[in-house]
This record gives sequence, structure tokens and C-alpha cells, in this order.
Amino acid sequence: MNVQWYPGHMTRAKRQMQEDLKLIDLIIELVDARVPLSSRNPDIDRLGQNKARLILLNKADLADERQNEAWKEYFTKKGFHVVKVDSRNGGGMKAVQAMIQEACREKIERDRRRGIKNRPVRAMVAGIPNVGKSTFINTFAGKACAKTGNKPGVTRGKQWIRLNKNVELLDTPGILWPKFEDQKVGERLACIGSIKDDLLNMEELSLLLIEYLKSRYPGVLAKRYGVSEENSPLAVLEETAKARGCLKRGEELDYEKAAGVIFDDFRSGKIGRITLEWAEKEK
Ligand code: G4P
Repeated sequence: MNVQWYPGHMTRAKRQMQEDLKLIDLIIELVDARVPLSSRNPDIDRLGQNKARLILLNKADLADERQNEAWKEYFTKKGFHVVKVDSRNGGGMKAVQAMIQEACREKIERDRRRGIKNRPVRAMVAGIPNVGKSTFINTFAGKACAKTGNKPGVTRGKQWIRLNKNVELLDTPGILWPKFEDQKVGERLACIGSIKDDLLNMEELSLLLIEYLKSRYPGVLAKRYGVSEENSPLAVLEETAKARGCLKRGEELDYEKAAGVIFDDFRSGKIGRITLEWAEKEK
């Protein structure tokens, strides 16, 4: 779901979040493991004060495993509970179950001291568009469960998915908006496909991606396309166009098409497991 954000969207999304936050104990925040900072909206830290917090590094299957670990450590040091997950294939779901209990231990203890027994923890999934919120809810809660709440008109009230006797999940995720103030954030979100491609110059963006891959993941482009990485990004794009037969009419090389090939391969993990933001740089 590629969504562009305008002030109206943001106000609505924020208001909805604030309403839903009143109902829950725990925020399960999804970030994209390939861009864990750019795919976050830091406003959630203010909105979610006094809530238990769990960060899921989703799409961990597409990200560099060493960086997944580094980001896990980074967020853990900041006081979050963290789990790496692959919602598409169900990886990490058991760990999420366990971590929910861990993250809410304080609340469970508090309830017990007050004599409240068996009140389930209520949780909400939140994140910017395309991080995998729906996929996670479906995988985690089981498809049948999640569906009931999606039928329009079934009920106007909130739908809760009962995960077990201890945990209930709000069936509609909280939608956060990306923070575009830093140009790099926009570029990275575009690289992973979270911004409409036709809003950006994909050829220029591909040169940035090539530059990044050459420096941080040397060898991956050479391996996939047989290009010489010591050449400039433009030369690499040209070689890729040749290697993949990206031609316009009249045998002219089609750079835009070659950029599209690189983005498709990158987004689907065919170039390898790549992380565009490294935790070491952010400490
Ligand atoms: P959202 O609700 O946050 O907007 O995201 P959504 O679940 O719609 O997921 C966005 C895309 O990300 C989907 O791909 C989904 O399959 C993919 N995805 C979600 N979680 C993971 C994950 O852990 N690993 C990987 N590799 N992909 C994930 P799509 O191309 O839009 O749809 P589809 O082709 O999968 O149907």
C-alpha cells in the first residue's frame, strides 16, 4: 500500500491512534528491518508514554542478519523489548508470544497486587504503511481470527482478537506516518518500495542504491549482474542495462528499465539480504 501523506492524513491518523491508545496496555510497533529508523515515526515515543513497548524488526528475512542483531541490541539498550520477525513466513512468532508476556510483566504484577485476576493484556499493532502490519496480524493471530474484524459493517465497535487467555489484540492496526524531513528518509523508503515509484526519479535513486551497495556490500552487484564495481554508479547501471538487455526502440540502452530491474531484485531479496541503515552509525 503506497500512501502519500498530507497534513489531513496525519491529523486523522494521529487522532485515531490517540483514541486507540486509551484502550491498550502494549504497543507492538513494526519497523522494516532494512531501514529501522526511517520506517519509524519517533512521535510514537511521546504518544505511547506509559505503555509497554515491543518493537518488531519485521522483514528480517530481507535484511542483513548481522545488522538485525545490531539493531536488536540498539533498541534493547533504549529500553524496548525487541524481536526479529518474518511475518510472511511466520518466523519469530513464538518469540513474540513470549516477549509480550515479558513486556507486560509489570502490568500483570500490578493487577495482581490490586487483586485483579485474569485481565488479559490488550495490545495494538502500529507502524507506517507497508511495514507489514496486516501480514503480521494475520500470521500471528491466525487468518480466520483476523478476518472477522475486517468485514465492513459487522460492528461499529472495536474488534479484539483473542490470542490466548492472556492477550487480546486490536484487529485494526495503528497507522503512523513516515517522517520525511530528512531527504535520506524519503530516499530509503523509496528504495524499499514504500513510496510510489512514479513520484521519484528512479534512475537517480538507483545510482544512490548502487553507490551504497558498492561501498557496504561489495561484490553483490558483480555477482548478480556481472558488472565491474570499480566503475562509477552510472557505468554500473549501463552495464546492468546491457547485461539484462534493457533496450529502448532503436537499440538505445534503457537506464530506467535497468533501474527497475535493480529495484525489483533488491526489494525481493534477490541481490541478497541488505540493510540500508546500519546500527553502528546511529549510536
Ligand atoms: P501494512 O499492513 O503495514 O501496510 O503492510 P502489509 O501487511 O500489507 O505488507 C506489505 C508488504 O510486505 C506485502 O507484500 C507483504 O507480503 C510484505 N511483507 C510483510 N511482512 C513481511 C516479512 O516479514 N517479510 C517479507 N519478505 N515480506 C513481508 P506485497 O508485495 O505488497 O504483497 P504480497 O505480494 O505479499 O501479496
